[in-house]
Amino acid sequence: MRTNILAIESSCDDTSAAIISDGILLSNVLANQTVHEQYGGVVPELASRSHQQNIVPVVQTAIKNAGLKPDDISAIAFTRGPGLLGSLLVGTSFAKGFAIAQKIPIIEVNHLQGHILSPFIKETDNERVPSFPFLTMTVSGGHTQIVIVKDYFDMKIIGHTIDDAAGEAYDKCAKVMGLGYPGGPIIDKLAKQGNPLTFELPKPKIRGLNFSFSGLKTAFLYLLRDNIKKNKNFIEQNKQNLAASLQKTIVDILLGKLKRAANETNIKEIAIGGGVAANSELRKRITVMAEKEQWNLFLPKLNFTTDNAAMIGIVGYYKYLKKDFSNLKVTPDARLNL
Ligand code: KG4
Ligand code: ZN
Repeated sequence: MRTNILAIESSCDDTSAAIISDGILLSNVLANQTVHEQYGGVVPELASRSHQQNIVPVVQTAIKNAGLKPDDISAIAFTRGPGLLGSLLVGTSFAKGFAIAQKIPIIEVNHLQGHILSPFIKETDNERVPSFPFLTMTVSGGHTQIVIVKDYFDMKIIGHTIDDAAGEAYDKCAKVMGLGYPGGPIIDKLAKQGNPLTFELPKPKIRGLNFSFSGLKTAFLYLLRDNIKKNKNFIEQNKQNLAASLQKTIVDILLGKLKRAANETNIKEIAIGGGVAANSELRKRITVMAEKEQWNLFLPKLNFTTDNAAMIGIVGYYKYLKKDFSNLKVTPDARLNL
């Protein structure tokens, strides 16, 4: 019999379920929550309620799309953390109920390990995957870190943000421009029509492999303020150039550190993951850099960059092979570390 893992991701504002069968992705279903747009950010209480509404139909669709029945599922994997506690509780409780009903094991998954192992999500048998050790940069709304991955479950953080995450920098700057949430994709789109050299923004001088984005956010805010005093239509008239300049600076910061990490560790297997890995400028420039530096680059498919259950499923699958199951008493951990 095949090993069929049902995976649940509910750490933030997307409810997702996926099926991984013998390491191959059969389905990946996602319900986006649009309720947060009007608030300019995720409202935790509303997120939990939406997960509660979405989780049953999302799971049913994932099982159906995979051509399976509930009795075919070997184990259920779920995100234990980090994330919003109420949202994590919905996924965790669902996993326990399903596991008890089906008499199958549950497998807790660290959301960050999901992003890190997302290059191992395969939709067919013959897709290339990184070999160990590889270096990966996780860039999401909550995290920015560079990690050496020595094996599936042997990872070490060698650089991380000391304040805001890269995605947060996108989201906060977009918010002060009045662009809506999440800001990353909106800035990405606007930046395509702008000149990135219009505004010069400061780059942090943080030693080693750590990142900082809060100074950039503040500098961006002051740039807007100073100019709005002179011209109240400043943002509207310059939004493409502002987006392009901001985006260039963020990508410069990210790639500068990644290149340094690759040099220092002498690792040429390189991957990226997390929502900001969907960014078109980052993808374009890392591809050029990889060629120049002779990296073996793994760019995730777009639907595996932002939060998704497929990445939880692949971690669940490798844990299943080790029989690394969780106790039914397990509780979510909003601040779970890597
Ligand atoms: O990984 P993710 O879905 O959730 C977290 O674990 O945080 O990442 C969400 C983040 C948000 O900050 C969003 O603005 C950013 O990813 N993002 C992007 C793009 N698409 C999503 N940032 C830049 N460019 C994009 N195309
Ligand atoms: Zn994430």
